[in-house]
Amino acid sequence: MDSRLSAQQMSTVLAKALANKQFSHDDSAIIFQDLSFLGQHIRQLKKHFPDGTLHAIAAKANPLPAVLNYLLPQDVGVECATLSEVFIAQKCGYNPEKIVFDSPAKTVDELEYALKAGIHINADSFNELERIKELLGRIQSKSIIGLRINPQVGTGKISITSVAGKYSKFGMPIAEFEEDIIAFYKNNDWLTGIHMHIGSQGCSLGQLIKAAQILNTFLSKIKNDVKWVDIGGGLPVEYAEDESTPPMQKYVDALKKNVPELFQGTYKLITEFGRFVHANAGWTASWVEYVKSYSGVNTVVTHVGADQLMRRIYQPDNWHHDISITDKTGKLKPINKTKKYTIAGPLCFGGDIIASDIELPIIEEGDFILIHDTGAYTLSMWSRHTSRQIPKVLGYQNNGEQFEVLKKRESLEDVYNFWK
Ligand SMILES: Cc1ncc(COP(=O)(O)O)c(C=O)c1O
Repeated sequence: MDSRLSAQQMSTVLAKALANKQFSHDDSAIIFQDLSFLGQHIRQLKKHFPDGTLHAIAAKANPLPAVLNYLLPQDVGVECATLSEVFIAQKCGYNPEKIVFDSPAKTVDELEYALKAGIHINADSFNELERIKELLGRIQSKSIIGLRINPQVGTGKISITSVAGKYSKFGMPIAEFEEDIIAFYKNNDWLTGIHMHIGSQGCSLGQLIKAAQILNTFLSKIKNDVKWVDIGGGLPVEYAEDESTPPMQKYVDALKKNVPELFQGTYKLITEFGRFVHANAGWTASWVEYVKSYSGVNTVVTHVGADQLMRRIYQPDNWHHDISITDKTGKLKPINKTKKYTIAGPLCFGGDIIASDIELPIIEEGDFILIHDTGAYTLSMWSRHTSRQIPKVLGYQNNGEQFEVLKKRESLEDVYNFWK
């Protein structure tokens, strides 16, 4: 299975969406979501990890209820960074034990809610564990409770999404607090889980494995029954052809080789992949609204920018999306004649530039720009700056044989209500 969708595949789906009148100029842009591709990624996860592993898919990568509904029958869980994500997962029908609540800022009320509902909780600190202890003194709970540790394996290539440096705002740093953490486990038999997550994109296979080794060594020192071992997410994915990222199989093979103890059935494993599942399953098509040529620059004005692609726009050196161009019917434009273009988003600041000075086929008004690999951490990070309407999200299966609207385009009234 290819790890990414090709420009040709996207163009075929776009042409079908246009022919089926799923996409009109009024839509401005559409976020496509390949549900078949998503399903394949879930199957890959299940194939490589032992049966019974809880794959809690990170909602922060893509929280759309329609997508969570699609994933539900595939017997996965949801990793939640906020109570709102917990609420979405519950409304989508996920059982509480499959909801993993990881927020670092849980209030007492939120903890009480999660404990009463039997949701899996990973505490971020001793401070939070003390709150849980107090609550458990007065309420009954079926929740599994774990503690997030920071294995301190160092930051990855992208500092803002790395969380396992010597200092991190997340988790208990293991080198500094080893004895205290061991003592806490020993004295509190309700603490039966352990959790780590070292970063999202930019962490090397070496760092991921080293973190698992540190966790495993630490587990051997805890003398109580830790049953639930949550290794987080963070497997990087490909955003460009020349990138080499470890496939899931390589990651799991390396885990099995270096930390076989985690695969011997002693523990119940939990994973929290977001990007691996979603990133390459989504892409965005925007009408080209204008092509303006002056000051030696050909500027293409499109309908998405920093609203959808926050990371790309603000940190272009760290985040990349390939771009392809089709004509108004969705057919890829020939690459034998090209020009340099700057692709500009619609927002009201000069830095809202998706790509600068890149060689692309000749672009005309009414063409489409396809932005690859927008399935994770794009729509879910939507910025309301200048109040643009969130585009329609169109799901499809079998290369566009079936379409289904996963989220309607926001109306002007919806935007008004957001701010009201
Ligand atoms: C605690 C936690 N788990 C899982 C993830 C998902 O990471 P990724 O999407 O890279 O797999 C994140 C992302 O930031 C996270 O913070």
